[in-house]
Amino acid sequence: MHRFALALLLVACGGGPKPADNPPGGTAGSGAGGGAGTSATEDPEPALGEQELAMLRSLSPSSLPAPPEDATNKYAEDDAAARFGQALFFDPRFSGQLLDGDNDASEHALGMKGDVGKVACAGCHVPEDGFSDTRTLHRQVSLGAGWGLRRAPSLLDSAQSRLLMWDGRRDSYFAQAFGVLENEVEMNSSRLFAAHQVFTNHRQEYEAIFGPLPPLDDATRFPQLSALQTGCRSLDRNNKCVGVRRGAPGDGAEFDALPPADQDAITRVFVNVGKALGAYERRLTCGAAPFDAWMQGNEEALSRAAKRGAGLFVGRAGCVKCHSGPYFSDEKFHNVGLQPALVAVVFIDANDQGASAGLTQLLEDPLNSHGGFSDGMDDRLARQPEEMPLGAFRTPRLRCVSSRPSFMHTAQLRSLQEVTAFFNRGGDKFGFLGASELQPLGLSEREQADLVAFLESLSGRGPDVALLAPP
Ligand code: HEC
Ligand code: HEC
Repeated sequence: MHRFALALLLVACGGGPKPADNPPGGTAGSGAGGGAGTSATEDPEPALGEQELAMLRSLSPSSLPAPPEDATNKYAEDDAAARFGQALFFDPRFSGQLLDGDNDASEHALGMKGDVGKVACAGCHVPEDGFSDTRTLHRQVSLGAGWGLRRAPSLLDSAQSRLLMWDGRRDSYFAQAFGVLENEVEMNSSRLFAAHQVFTNHRQEYEAIFGPLPPLDDATRFPQLSALQTGCRSLDRNNKCVGVRRGAPGDGAEFDALPPADQDAITRVFVNVGKALGAYERRLTCGAAPFDAWMQGNEEALSRAAKRGAGLFVGRAGCVKCHSGPYFSDEKFHNVGLQPALVAVVFIDANDQGASAGLTQLLEDPLNSHGGFSDGMDDRLARQPEEMPLGAFRTPRLRCVSSRPSFMHTAQLRSLQEVTAFFNRGGDKFGFLGASELQPLGLSEREQADLVAFLESLSGRGPDVALLAPP
């Protein structure tokens, strides 16, 4: 069942990482700050220079910028599309069979192996937990139809990123949605099945926004697929589909047999679903945090520890080199020398090349922003360097970071303390292929705790509660 069991690593990790849950909430307003045993002399007044303050202002402008215009999606600001997208985000009926036997109908799984119609976006991006996956056992990588190998990122403020995913392999929300739909370990479904589901369950809302659906009730033209027939039937030891995938390009069956114009008509239906989802996702934001209140002059908003942490973040610790701008990401890809380690007890992807593979995939994707389904393009594809270093991943945004259940693309770090210790040691000694950009920092224990206090001060109120459930 567990395809990535590595005996050697199991021994090394002694049964896997401890679920050292990271502390909820921030330390805002906690005055003295610091950890247990910190004496007054170890809680000095923060001393911030002009240069540090100027850098901090670049992280906290007087109002947080709205997401940049989305050239790929002309429905991005359409309220009806956003409401429809919100309904779709919670709708599991697009999904095919659950394939992995770890689907055991417990609260950590979305159903029982063999069940259909169980996987919705909200199943892995849990709205009340910052749209992270706090549902899957171990709170690291996600169990959909099968197990994924990377952590589900929080969706808060994702509209700030022009290139999506840890490796940048999607450059629009609509293309991203196809990845989930047709991935055998996520929804394990297909665009042909999804188009029928829109026709059956959402025809009115869809047509009010996007115009008439193709005549999907004409079975002579558009073959029907049942939920049991769509996607993939079983996985091999490497989590890949065994046999024919049904209803998707390259299936050698129903979809491929359609004339090109009908294939496009089917694809267009789910493109529009993706654009509606995108209009909703754009509205999900972390919001202003205690850090911003402090920058606007409220001295009480942050503890002394968090203020010192702010100084380190933009100063000696050099975090701002990559975590820059109001959302704390340069939107570039970096190798930080993370040595992939075991997660969720048995999973490891020791050969994840990150953006060097992801961006190649993006350029070849017919659904990318230069393709015929996009409403326009900008320079998002051109903005990245041609040669992407091996093992580079997109700098994560850090607002609301302290509510994430685990950290890094592998989810192998379980607390912000572990993350700062990782950066303090300059990454792992035997990082992944390629060269790490980090150097050891030589921060004291207290300084590392200060950085954690600062990271905890970046949590805003989150999206309007009306966005956390189906409309
Ligand atoms: C089975 C779990 C699972 C489900 C279901 C799922 N996601 Fe994800 N999501 C992930 C994982 C894992 C990643 C990161 C994958 C990667 O980078 O390779 C991700 C990444 C994303 C991203 C990129 C965010 C960023 O900052 O780059 C977006 C947007 C997203 N998902 C939206 C959705 C939508 C919309 C749906 C429903 C159509 C959905 N997800 C369903 C697990 C899931
Ligand atoms: C060279 C660029 C770079 C520097 C410098 C850097 N980071 Fe990062 N940071 C990254 C990248 C890239 C990742 C994701 C790496 C991965 O998943 O493999 C990351 C991940 C993180 C995460 C985990 C977020 C998540 O959702 O998983 C936190 C927290 C973080 N960094 C904080 C810091 C702090 C604090 C510093 C300074 C001590 C720092 N970073 C310095 C690039 C950088």
